[in-house]
Amino acid sequence: MRRLIALWLVAMVSIAALSACGDNSIDTRIEPSTFPIELTEERISSGEVIYAQHCTSCHGPVDGQPLLDGTPPHGDSGHTWHHPDRLLYEWVLDKPPLATVMPAFRGTLTEQEVIQVLAYIKSSWLPEIQARQNEGSVQYEAQVVDFGTE
Ligand code: HEC
Repeated sequence: MRRLIALWLVAMVSIAALSACGDNSIDTRIEPSTFPIELTEERISSGEVIYAQHCTSCHGPVDGQPLLDGTPPHGDSGHTWHHPDRLLYEWVLDKPPLATVMPAFRGTLTEQEVIQVLAYIKSSWLPEIQARQNEGSVQYEAQVVDFGTE
C-alpha cells in the first residue's frame, strides 16, 4: 500500500512538472496583473532610494543626463519608455540583450525591488508618455498571453 501511495505521488509530481513545462506562455512566478506596473506612492518612494543606490552612478538622475558615457538616459528624452514593463523588468533582472556594461541585478535586487525602481522611473515621465508606455505594456501582455514569450 505504501508503495502504491509512493507511486501515485511520483505520478502526481510528474504531471505537475509536465504541465508547468507546457505552460511556458507566462512566467508563473509573476502574477499576471503585475504588468503594466501600477504606480503607488509606496513603490515610487522605495524605488527612488533603490535608484539612487544602484542606478544613478551610470544612468544619472532619473530625468537628467547619464553620468557614465554610453549609458542611456531613463527620462522622456531616452528610449526606456519605448519598451513594455515586462521587458524592462526582465532586463533589469538579467541584463538587456547584448548589454556589455549594464549589470544583471538578479541576486542584488529582489523582484519586488525591481518593480519599485521601475515604478520610480515610470513616475518621472510626462503624463502623455506614461499613457503611451502603459498602452504598449498592455498590448505586450496580450501578446504574451496569446503567443508566449518564446
Ligand atoms: C555600471 C553602469 C550601470 C548601472 C549601475 C546600471 N546601468 Fe542600466 N544600463 C547601463 C548601460 C551602459 C546600458 C546600455 C546597455 C549596455 O551597453 O550595457 C544600460 C541599459 C539599461 C536599460 C535598457 C535601456 C533602456 O533604458 O531602454 C535599462 C532599463 C536599465 N539600464 C535600467 C537600469 C536600472 C533600473 C539600474 C539600477 C537598478 C541600472 N540600469 C543600473 C549601465 C548601467
